[in-house]
Amino acid sequence: MLFWTLYFTLITAIILPVTQAHGKLTPDYYNDVCPQALPTIRVMVETVVGIQPRMGASLVRLHFHDCFAKGCDGSVLLDDSPTMVGEKTAAPNNNSLRGFELVDEIKATLNVACFGNVVSCADILAIAARDSVVARTFDEHLGRLHLQLGGSSYEVLLGRQDSTCASKAEANSNIPSPFSNLTDMLSKFQAHNLSAEDLVLLSGAHTLGFAKCKTLRNRIYNETSTIDPDFARSLKAKCHRPAGGSDDEELSPLDETPAAFDAGYYQMLTQRKGMLHTDQELFKGDGSEIDRLVKRYAEDAGAFKEGFGAAMVRLGSIKPLTGREGEVRENCRVVNRR
Ligand code: HEM
Ligand SMILES: *[C@@H]1O[C@H](CO)[C@@H](O)[C@H](O)[C@H]1NC(C)=O
Ligand SMILES: *[C@@H]1O[C@H](CO)[C@@H](O)[C@H](O)[C@H]1NC(C)=O
Ligand SMILES: *[C@@H]1O[C@H](CO)[C@@H](O)[C@H](O)[C@H]1NC(C)=O
Ligand SMILES: *[C@@H]1O[C@H](CO)[C@@H](O)[C@H](O)[C@H]1NC(C)=O
Repeated sequence: MLFWTLYFTLITAIILPVTQAHGKLTPDYYNDVCPQALPTIRVMVETVVGIQPRMGASLVRLHFHDCFAKGCDGSVLLDDSPTMVGEKTAAPNNNSLRGFELVDEIKATLNVACFGNVVSCADILAIAARDSVVARTFDEHLGRLHLQLGGSSYEVLLGRQDSTCASKAEANSNIPSPFSNLTDMLSKFQAHNLSAEDLVLLSGAHTLGFAKCKTLRNRIYNETSTIDPDFARSLKAKCHRPAGGSDDEELSPLDETPAAFDAGYYQMLTQRKGMLHTDQELFKGDGSEIDRLVKRYAEDAGAFKEGFGAAMVRLGSIKPLTGREGEVRENCRVVNRR
């Protein structure tokens, strides 16, 4: 076993930099070095999401938060260590990001299935995000496979290496806060070459998952905000004042169908029922370009699903480490010993 581990580590150390000569990501990166990699990740993600649909949301979000700090390099997965502060305690991440244990399990399984340390943690995040969006599960009532989250599939580009450090400062400054305005979000996306349309499409990930009361109060208790009054009332019944109380961590779904990848998120925005302040910033009813995009996706779930995949590929292409940059981490939580 040790021999094979060393053997394959050596082989991949030689092969990977050669196939990565141009520093580009490619869909077939693991086809030769570990053909089992993608099917293994898919089965693991499908299994967990089938039981616990929210995990799909959490994995999509993990990839986003990874990419916005230092690029898509697995930096978000690094634990704090005596010599390094990780990103996990940055404001947008602390006590909020989920899925780290599942990523550990996937990584450990791949290290066996690939006969060594071959698949980067950054690539695992990109693949797991896609597999979450399209995860299927067995429906006991219908007696057949059905679409669980129900998004459209897309081809994931691969070949990212993992970083050897993290940046809590970038996680804090690059990832928009839920209290940001549109201008601020646009500039944070533009900083990664992502357009206004990418902002609208990627925010559509909020068709999945949940948010805590502490992220909602500023909007639902704000008399001057543009929230639908009945909707605000129903949320106030769940998220009481004052902040800092026991319901701070209470969860509400980000749209009415948090386990369905559908146009519900955009439809809520057009009814002024966006959950986060930042969600409603994308639709103000002023007929702006952003408004028109939201309306389009509210009316056309197919266009949203197609557009989302393409935008995820652009998100996943933010400053990847390739070739001899970075490393493939043996354990996603720590940099390799050298
Ligand atoms: C554009 C600015 C964005 C802001 C301000 C924002 C903010 C937030 C906040 C505050 C939460 C709730 C976290 C909590 O209560 O613990 C959340 C959840 C979520 N976000 Fe975003 N987000 C943004 C964009 C995105 C993007 C681009 C994606 C993915 C492509 C994404 C995916 C998700 C998902 C899937 C959840 C639910 C996670 C779960 O249930 O575990 N978000 N977001
Ligand atoms: C992170 O969250 C925990 C639990 O809510 C809290 O005790 C801790 O102070 C937070 N850390 C930072 C750096 O905000
Ligand atoms: C948006 O937020 C930024 C940063 O908080 C602030 O400087 C700017 O004035 C705000 N812009 C608008 C149009 O409200
Ligand atoms: C953004 O695009 C421009 C022009 O295509 C390119 O020069 C620049 O390197 C890109 N920046 C990032 C962060 O990808
Ligand atoms: C309330 O909403 C308005 C308009 O969106 C905003 O300018 C203001 O900062 C918000 N107030 C609070 C306390 O969040």
